[in-house]
Amino acid sequence: MKKIEAIIRPDKTDRVIDCLEEIGVSGLNIKEIKGYGSQKGQTEMYRGVSYRVRLRKKIKVETIVEYTKVDQIIEAIKEAVQTGEVGDGKIFVSDVENAVRIRTGEEGTDAL
Ligand SMILES: Nc1ncnc2c1ncn2[C@@H]1O[C@H](COP(=O)(O)OP(=O)(O)OP(=O)(O)O)[C@@H](O)[C@H]1O
Ligand SMILES: [Mg+2]
Repeated sequence: MKKIEAIIRPDKTDRVIDCLEEIGVSGLNIKEIKGYGSQKGQTEMYRGVSYRVRLRKKIKVETIVEYTKVDQIIEAIKEAVQTGEVGDGKIFVSDVENAVRIRTGEEGTDAL
């Protein structure tokens, strides 16, 4: 199993949920986060004053899936959120050792 964490622009959240639903993930989590990437926030002008926004609001979408679905999910998320502008976000993939459905005691992919 793999964990996919996609950090995206907040206004793209519904599009990503729609495409994950279409692919058939069994569950997902949405977290409101703040962070920065290589631009470390960007300088903005407000009332003639330039100031730096250190942390930008982003959404983290997390889902645990069978490894066979990973490539399809990455492609679908890229397609759903890419604008080509800085700040489009990132997708991180990591291994998940086990999962347990508490109600039944099922483990592994059966628990997803
Ligand atoms: N190395 C990282 N580790 C953890 N989170 C990251 C990392 N890089 C980016 N993020 C998260 O992803 C968000 C979006 O990053 P962003 O798309 O700006 O990356 P970038 O490397 O600056 O690429 P771009 O040049 O396209 O903006 C950041 O606000 C931060 O929350
Ligand atoms: Mg950036």
